[in-house]
Amino acid sequence: MKKIIVGLTGASGVVYGIRLLDIVRSSNLFEIHLIISESAKKVISLETNCPLNQIEEKADFVYSNQDQSSVISSGSFITSGMIVVPCSIKTLSGIENSYNDCLIVRAADVVLKEKRNLVLCVRETPFHLGHIKLMEELLKRGAVVFPLIPSFYNKPNCISDIVDQTVYRILDQIGIFLENSIRYKG
Ligand SMILES: Cc1cc2nc3c(=O)[nH]c(=O)nc-3n(C[C@H](O)[C@H](O)[C@H](O)COP(=O)(O)O)c2cc1C
Repeated sequence: MKKIIVGLTGASGVVYGIRLLDIVRSSNLFEIHLIISESAKKVISLETNCPLNQIEEKADFVYSNQDQSSVISSGSFITSGMIVVPCSIKTLSGIENSYNDCLIVRAADVVLKEKRNLVLCVRETPFHLGHIKLMEELLKRGAVVFPLIPSFYNKPNCISDIVDQTVYRILDQIGIFLENSIRYKG
């Protein structure tokens, strides 16, 4: 089975990451390798009612963000890529600078050097020029920068409609095209 790495970091919008885990899991297409940063755990407790263990159960493998010795630290471990959702500015900066002091940043750096798919779902507003420059450099290196900006052509009725549509579009970026995604028809 193909493998995908998912990183949750401490930006607002952890619900996107949780929902992405649900959708990928129910597709039965990918083995999920999950890392949740310490700040993401804090945001999960502040923004959701979802216990951490229930989130971790959605993945096939869960790693500590401090565990640099895990398999996903190595390019020899073949994956289809990595999605960081939500992606904090701190993690964005770490990845751009190859400042590999934690597993999320190291795994993303490996995905970039191996020229695999890296999708960074940045969440901050407004951006200053430094944020934009980090994103520019990451784009040059082949990452997809996917700010968590909702779409409305799907006529959402509730927050979960907005979240789901964004998650399906994130998955499009990594070649996971699912039927439930609402496609704009003009
Ligand atoms: C409730 C809450 C919301 C936050 N929202 C954001 C955000 O939207 N974007 C961001 O870059 N940082 C945000 N932060 C700050 C990050 O959590 C902080 O920079 C942290 O060091 C990121 O660490 P990580 O990238 O290792 O998860 C938020 C923090 C809290 C407590």
